[in-house]
Amino acid sequence: MNLNIFEFEEELDIAAANDVVKVINENPNAALGLATGETPIGLYQKLVQAYENEQVSFKRVTTYNIDEYAGLGKAHPQSFYSFMKTHLFAKVDLPEGQIHIPNGAALDLEGEVERYEALLKQAGQLDVQILSIGLNGHIGFNEPGRTLHAETHVVPLTEETRQVNSKSFPSLPDVPKQAITMGIGTMIKAKKIVFIAKGEAKAAILKQAFKGPINPLVPGSLLQLHPNLEVYLDVKAAKFLYEG
Ligand code: GLP
Repeated sequence: MNLNIFEFEEELDIAAANDVVKVINENPNAALGLATGETPIGLYQKLVQAYENEQVSFKRVTTYNIDEYAGLGKAHPQSFYSFMKTHLFAKVDLPEGQIHIPNGAALDLEGEVERYEALLKQAGQLDVQILSIGLNGHIGFNEPGRTLHAETHVVPLTEETRQVNSKSFPSLPDVPKQAITMGIGTMIKAKKIVFIAKGEAKAAILKQAFKGPINPLVPGSLLQLHPNLEVYLDVKAAKFLYEG
């Protein structure tokens, strides 16, 4: 694990975005694993700026989002597709046909899991996987549990996750109870992981994930196994490194 700690959020976002831009410029056909949530928004803004400044092109890039809510189609304002369209897809030259995300509107969820997993297997090793971590230690929607799934699967969202994510919905009942998520195995198979976490609220789970034992009850702890993990933290999230 290579640790990068920043006092200012914008410096963190620039450094993390530069890391992704470097991967794309070294391989214009790069396959990117993308995460959603508040944490990577700044990184996506800096990727858009790099594109606008002609420092990178997404023309030949292919993207794979790690998760999507079950029951929300692409057009749904709270879908992760809508999130990505708002923060990245609509602002760069990434062709629509090179964007991949689980189809939350699929009636046959297990069929969609098979489709997406086959797509990921066809893609092989992703060049860079952008990740953050949920307050309960989830990575994507790989929720804490006695076992973890290597491959794409349907997951029941924990009440804690639904509660935390309800900030993006009109009310808690509107938050889906299930999601489709890329498995941990696909994520840690990536050539490189760019992991971002910000804010004091994440310090406790980061301590468990990066200083605790590898434990399926803390899915983020599996990232300790990755040989090319680039971690970007602000000083508040990095507090765990200095506490006893
Ligand atoms: C969401 C996403 C995860 C994300 C996590 C943290 O549920 N499924 O991919 O990493 O929660 O989100 P945030 O960055 O808003 O803290």
